Amino acid sequence: MTTIISVPPVRARASVRALISHTLTNRNMSSMSTYWSPTGEGNGSHTKEKPTETTSTAKQEGGEQEIDPWSVKGGADGKIDYDALLTKWGCQQIDKELIERVEKLTGVPAHPLLARGVFFAHRDLKALLDAYEKDPKSFYLYTGRGPSSESLHLGHLIPFMFTKYLQEAFKVPLVIQLTDDEKCIWKGISIEESRRLAFENAKDIIACGFDKRNTFIFNDFDYVGGMFYQNMVSIAKCVTFNQAKGIFGFKFEDPIAKIAFPPVQAAPSFPDSFPHLFGKGKKLRCLIPCAIDQDPYFRMTRDAAPRMGGHKPALIESRFFPSLKGESGKMSASDENSCIYVTDTPKQIKTKINKHAFSGGRETIEDHRLYGGNLDVDISWKYLNFFLEDDAELEQIGKDYSSGAMLTGEIKKKLIEVLQAMVGKHQEARKAVTDDLVKEYFSTETRKVEDLFPRD
Ligand code: TYM
Repeated sequence: MTTIISVPPVRARASVRALISHTLTNRNMSSMSTYWSPTGEGNGSHTKEKPTETTSTAKQEGGEQEIDPWSVKGGADGKIDYDALLTKWGCQQIDKELIERVEKLTGVPAHPLLARGVFFAHRDLKALLDAYEKDPKSFYLYTGRGPSSESLHLGHLIPFMFTKYLQEAFKVPLVIQLTDDEKCIWKGISIEESRRLAFENAKDIIACGFDKRNTFIFNDFDYVGGMFYQNMVSIAKCVTFNQAKGIFGFKFEDPIAKIAFPPVQAAPSFPDSFPHLFGKGKKLRCLIPCAIDQDPYFRMTRDAAPRMGGHKPALIESRFFPSLKGESGKMSASDENSCIYVTDTPKQIKTKINKHAFSGGRETIEDHRLYGGNLDVDISWKYLNFFLEDDAELEQIGKDYSSGAMLTGEIKKKLIEVLQAMVGKHQEARKAVTDDLVKEYFSTETRKVEDLFPRD
């Protein structure tokens, strides 16, 4: 099966990191040293999470950003202050040593999304790597998707592309949850329709190239029961309404379906929710790749874990792939013009980028040549940071565009080429995903340990 972004060749990335640190983040990060700020690693597995705080908002000078699993809104200047989020939510920044450790343990160079700081935050990744060093069968991966639309947008692909790299590099099993119940509750989609969307979305996920021997995909409406349900109830018993209100911002007038949902997303963090894969017991650890909007679910889970006799799940979290219109939030599937879908035609991609991609170019060509483009706000540049694999080419584009040697039309042309090729490959891979193949990923047949942890 075609993969979208392959495991990269080993090469130095320092200069690219410096450029990207200047542009991917919204903080005052014009140099490596500010980007790789050592924030310390205080939040070990013994540390209590902060579930009772009102964590859905983080104050920013002159305004408030609002980030929760269902919506993302930047602060007064429209931008997301990731530093404030790290502090408020108690996650750690991923530093250079941690990336090098991942490379050393896996023998595989860091994925560009890790090397370039898109995946920038973690919880307990060090403890997880320590366990893996002692026993390469010590953890599994868990990620998911809320099937709210017919097709995924490029932002949704980020965690899946990255998870595929993690699965290949660490050679560990993966479970993927499709929260059709979540979208039925929040988006008012019927049960039948959300189940159908889950099945359709699974095809796009499978097209990312996951190995079917050690990937289990499930949708809640059809899988929840047995040990999974027992874990849900155990989690729910550990969380008061006050805590849930603090973590998720629930209101008294919300339907109780919303308040009851978080344990459903928490349960896959415990291996015995999948007896056909992992048997009984909570010994296996769990690593969850996702964007940082999903953190509230897992803060709650981590607080409950010790009381359930399990490990706290570890997390590796990304920034948001921004809207075409600019960096005031994440790309949203409900606004067509903010979004490139994996189903878009080459023509649609071209039109959307030319028409809607926010530009950091100057008013006139003369001014642009004189002052150069503004990398801090230019969406084409930001998107290239996510998807252009070649570090040297990326660095050159950054230099040329910011010096004014490259014009807005030219950087947009490059982005159009990159995205048309990537989306085209994805569409080819998706065509090969039949209903029968999807069913193989959903199979609840017992799997062999040597398939789950392949050591070729
Ligand atoms: P959903 O469907 O909103 O998003 C699926 C995954 O994509 C990430 N994501 C993004 N990443 C980067 N840039 C963006 N603009 C962007 N938009 C979304 C999300 O963080 C998520 O990782 N409740 C979840 C489904 C879920 C899940 C999980 C996700 C269930 N279990 C475990 C992660 C891990 C949801 O609705 O995701």
